[in-house]
Amino acid sequence: MSTPTLVRLESAFANVDLDAQPAAGSQALPASMYREGPIAEIERSIVFGRHWQYLGHRSQVSMIGDLLMASIGGLDVAITRSAQGLRGFHAVCRHRAGPLEACRGGGKTFLRCRYHAWAYGLDGQLLSAPEMRGADGFDETSIRLPEIELAEFEGLIFGRLGPGPASLEQVLADVALRLTRAGHALPTLRFHERVSYDIDCNWKTYVDNYLEGYHVPHVHPTLNAILDYRSYTTTLSQWHSLQSSPLESAPDTYGSGEVLYYFIYPNTMLNILPGRLQTNRVLPLRGNRCRIEFDFLYRDVPLANDREFSDVVQQEDVRICEAVQRNLDSGSYVSGLLNPTRESGVHHFQELLRTDYREALRRAKEIRRQA
Ligand code: FES
Ligand SMILES: [Fe+2]
Repeated sequence: MSTPTLVRLESAFANVDLDAQPAAGSQALPASMYREGPIAEIERSIVFGRHWQYLGHRSQVSMIGDLLMASIGGLDVAITRSAQGLRGFHAVCRHRAGPLEACRGGGKTFLRCRYHAWAYGLDGQLLSAPEMRGADGFDETSIRLPEIELAEFEGLIFGRLGPGPASLEQVLADVALRLTRAGHALPTLRFHERVSYDIDCNWKTYVDNYLEGYHVPHVHPTLNAILDYRSYTTTLSQWHSLQSSPLESAPDTYGSGEVLYYFIYPNTMLNILPGRLQTNRVLPLRGNRCRIEFDFLYRDVPLANDREFSDVVQQEDVRICEAVQRNLDSGSYVSGLLNPTRESGVHHFQELLRTDYREALRRAKEIRRQA
């Protein structure tokens, strides 16, 4: 992952106030940070190249020989379970960058390139390469897939591409306690299905929207009917935030209890109800679009109507995010005031971004000084 140069950073952040904003009276990040341009490449390195991101659940790779394909920071990765445990590798062929896919043959699982069929073991080692034996300079023992760092929390598998500012344990400090107190046992859940939505908006537009309940009464009439908006609270920690609300009257779909919406910087969301977890991963796409992957996990069977209900709420969010993005692109708006009570999660997210932007500038200046 290349480090952005000082010139590039200074041009991307020209006219952007990167100073820490007070919780009360803070301005939202300016529209220029949400438009197509160099910021996407910069964030790929300084945000998505350094922080922990959710990749999958233990139930998807529980047996030796299991393999899960995922994507992180624009890179396809393979999560494998072998006798050496759980490991993650770049799913990019070392021949000519072909795409790898999971294959089974001879009673074994392995990774095979769709281009010219080079094959790799679950430890990342090249196993075979058609018609390459005897080629000058070809030494199959020296060809391996690069590895990424993985860590597990309550059955959830996270990965990161390079060293970052905190361990996964630090990022999720106090979450386990909160889950136990509320009777949630995430490791016992089982993956059920994945649903993806491609949206015409910057990835941050979607995250901002997720992080406030301020819009719920106006955008989500059905969701509003089952949440108790007056009791909706946001709690902030260093690397994550939690929005929670008692369920008011949802006996058909969710029963009673409490809904927990965790956001883990920069792009992981955990939506937790008794016996159910829905994860959201926000993946930036080229052309200022993003993909949201929803994974549905249940303790027993899927909750009736859960998928349909989730789709209705998501379509409402898609429409509002796409409308906001069109307005951010229009040139009409630069920045506005955040609501200190209802948008504290947005402020928290944007402060983490500002910190990453400042840190990238500091490091680039350091590199310039040393040159
Ligand atoms: S690029 Fe993978 S085998 Fe050629
Ligand atoms: Fe929403």
